[in-house]
Amino acid sequence: MSRREPVKRKTDNRSLRHKVELRCWLLDAMHITDVRVLDTCAGAGVIWDAMRAHVSISRCIRSDIKPRRVGTLKLSAVDMIRAMPLDEFNVIDIDPYGEPWEAYLEVLARLRQPTAVFVTRGTVSWGVLTDAVLAHFGVPRHWPIAQSQRLAAYVDDLVLRDTWHYADIRHASVLDLEDVSYYALGLAPLAPAAPAAHPPADIARSHALPL
Ligand SMILES: C[S@@+](CC[C@H](N)C(=O)[O-])C[C@H]1O[C@@H](n2cnc3c(N)ncnc32)[C@H](O)[C@@H]1O
Repeated sequence: MSRREPVKRKTDNRSLRHKVELRCWLLDAMHITDVRVLDTCAGAGVIWDAMRAHVSISRCIRSDIKPRRVGTLKLSAVDMIRAMPLDEFNVIDIDPYGEPWEAYLEVLARLRQPTAVFVTRGTVSWGVLTDAVLAHFGVPRHWPIAQSQRLAAYVDDLVLRDTWHYADIRHASVLDLEDVSYYALGLAPLAPAAPAAHPPADIARSHALPL
């Protein structure tokens, strides 16, 4: 008899309780009481429906590559994040089955205010890393990369470390289950460097008119 890997099933919210607890914890830590959610992998919208029992949600915009609920925009998470004015939301939820990092990196580049970001990194439909993630870390696309849980964890680590280039991580929690990790990150964009009141002496000199 041939031995096979057990088939992993895609299950939307195997751990709804954990997802809800993580979201309640971060919103509380960030003192977010009026919640405005950009739900980029909304599925049937179970998480934020459940969250209504805990917080007041004044806005919830949903998208999914395969919408299942009336009113859900048919967009990938990356396209949704590019299309929306992120400063109108204080929560961004990226809850796909597989690799979320392309969408997360897009959030980092466009973050303008403190935001609660929830990210699920699953390995159920985890395949090759997206081109965007390879490009971000300068890995040539033609490299044969072995796919494994360890690589997934390593890439998680790289992306989270890279976050420091864009934002302060003011609050963070991760829950690692067998084949999925749930991240809750309270991010505040780095303040843009204030322009110098006077140009530094050497620059001032180089632009000085000859006497
Ligand atoms: C775990 S379920 C989401 C459950 C949902 N957050 C809820 O509250 O019920 C994963 C969903 O992500 C969607 N999805 C997967 N990859 C996506 C992507 N790149 N962009 C947008 N949606 C995606 C799937 O179609 C699926 O509906």
